[in-house]
Amino acid sequence: MNSTEVSKQKETRAFAHRLLAWYDVHARAMPWRVPPEDHAQGVRAAPYHIWLSEVMLQQTQVATVKEYFLKFIKKWPTVFDLAASDQEDVLKAWAGLGYYSRARNLKKCADIVVAQHQGKFPQTFEELKKLPGIGDYTASAIASIAFDQAVAVLDGNVERVMARHERIETTFPAAKSETKVILAEILDTERPGEFAQATMDLGATICTPKRPACSLCPINDDCLGFKYGDAELFPYKKPKAVKPTRKGAAFVILNENDEIFLCKRPEAGLLAGMTQVPTNDWNSNQDGSTDTTDAPFQTDWENAGIAKHTFTHFHLELNVWKISGINELSIEGWWSGVEQVSQEAIPTVMQKVIQKALQSV
Ligand code: ADE
Repeated sequence: MNSTEVSKQKETRAFAHRLLAWYDVHARAMPWRVPPEDHAQGVRAAPYHIWLSEVMLQQTQVATVKEYFLKFIKKWPTVFDLAASDQEDVLKAWAGLGYYSRARNLKKCADIVVAQHQGKFPQTFEELKKLPGIGDYTASAIASIAFDQAVAVLDGNVERVMARHERIETTFPAAKSETKVILAEILDTERPGEFAQATMDLGATICTPKRPACSLCPINDDCLGFKYGDAELFPYKKPKAVKPTRKGAAFVILNENDEIFLCKRPEAGLLAGMTQVPTNDWNSNQDGSTDTTDAPFQTDWENAGIAKHTFTHFHLELNVWKISGINELSIEGWWSGVEQVSQEAIPTVMQKVIQKALQSV
């Protein structure tokens, strides 16, 4: 090794060393995590917990996930319990978290882990990636956090930390591969899972998107963004496509016991198989009419206002129509009491529609 290589190696060791020393004191408490002091004593997180939390954390904030995670492990304490559960119950417990294909894949994955792996999650990135619902990020996070495999884990927080530290000028997501190469070089091979979580925590608490607290940062010594005073400009991002606003109509029907009429969405497409009130056809590239033309029957519909919701690729504005005192319906569905609605597999957009209708009494 020549002298440049030796000094580079010292620098990279210093990064992991300082980061982990900071994590030992400042690690965020999370219900699926083993705190650093316990980890040092040989305690390890249950792979089932890490898998469940990581699937939930795809697209969802830590604060929201905590509550759902605790609900799930109470209901299904092991992967065997989840595999033995009903898909519909998993969807109901998932309601409100969004991206419902994650809930379907969760059940499929539990089934495979039980049927083909005796209930034990595989330990390598490659094997994990073969399971439903586990992509690059989740496979690396599980391999690293649950099994201490030395793989680079790159989520949005880590991207920001690395892009600033190295002043990476390529835009994300294109810069992901070069960032993983750097991470693989500097990660701590003794504590890879904690290195990954430390980088995430640093991104969430110090190296924040706006006004990062650089003076408190444990790795500001050799951070290029800090040195040049422009950390906040990184990471460079490819400009996002502007989301279109789609429109449609939704129909809240109440019977004389004030129960709400619910039905199922088709098994394919957006919010597949979820529960809803009758609505017309709208999707990311198509509007539905906002009047009562597409109502399940013609009556004296009362307008209850507009419910707004944002999906990944579009904003949606549903004009909410309402009618009470209808007891017989010729379309397929069922009646649900207002208190029971929260137990159904109802996506957030439909919760908003129902709330609009109930507010306008
Ligand atoms: N985001 C995704 N996984 C996480 C973890 N294990 N800790 C903190 N933030 C995360």
